[in-house]
Amino acid sequence: MVTEKIGRTLLVATAVALGCSAMVSLAIHYLRPIQEAYAQLERNRTVLAAAGELPEELSDRQVVTGYLELDIRLVDMARGIFVDAAAVGKIHTYDHWALEEGSPLLLRPEGEPAPHQPTLASRYVPVYLVWKGQTLHRLVLPVHGKGMWSTIYAYLALQGDLSTIAAMHVYRHGETPGIGDRIEDQRWLSTWAGKRVYDDAGRSRFTLTKDASDSPYSVDLITGASVTSEALGNIVRFWMGPQGYGPLLQALREKKETI
Ligand SMILES: Cc1cc2nc3c(=O)[nH]c(=O)nc-3n(C[C@H](O)[C@H](O)[C@H](O)COP(=O)(O)O)c2cc1C
Repeated sequence: MVTEKIGRTLLVATAVALGCSAMVSLAIHYLRPIQEAYAQLERNRTVLAAAGELPEELSDRQVVTGYLELDIRLVDMARGIFVDAAAVGKIHTYDHWALEEGSPLLLRPEGEPAPHQPTLASRYVPVYLVWKGQTLHRLVLPVHGKGMWSTIYAYLALQGDLSTIAAMHVYRHGETPGIGDRIEDQRWLSTWAGKRVYDDAGRSRFTLTKDASDSPYSVDLITGASVTSEALGNIVRFWMGPQGYGPLLQALREKKETI
């Protein structure tokens, strides 16, 4: 009699456990597209913020319409030129950061990557052109690489001269709350605006230093979070260099590549 009761209890407990895990799995399965859509919305909000000249607080609807109106171009990072967006399908939903290992669209950097360098990078990267009339006002470039604990993802906006920083927006990272996450501090990020990446000869000069006040090419390190802030500077240097957007930007400045 007692054995029968224990058996029934176990049966009921197992059925409840199986039912609950099935419900959790279904919830994860059906909620994933919604989570991904929200992640994309937030990413696109950051792109619009980096594009500038937009209201501080954009509604979700404004983000969707604003993003669809952006002039998005696709860069072939292997050749440093713009290519037809059809290479990646729908450009407005293409997320080069979401490519998974094994994707034919990924490039593996040659040799041992530098500590801040991404170990995998997309061959095709979407960049965003902001126009004022016929003049290029900003070019928004996605950048990413290793921080102290995590991969940092950001958007760097250059002015129309393709050298001066217009804005820097950190989009995603996993640095320590209260320490490394100070790279999101708007006051600190605003000090990036107006700093130059290249000198007049086209040499990359950008650095993060302890006292950047006198340098047109430098931003202050964050005291107490030097490792993460320096990593962000290294990420920008990498992407502005020969393995990043350097060749494209140079070709654009020298009018060898046209927009
Ligand atoms: C638990 C722990 C987490 C830390 N997280 C970070 C971090 O996310 N980013 C960072 O730059 N420094 C972090 N630090 C501090 C660094 O180890 C280092 O002391 C600091 O970046 C140096 O900055 P300073 O040269 O301005 O003193 C952390 C320290 C500890 C103990």
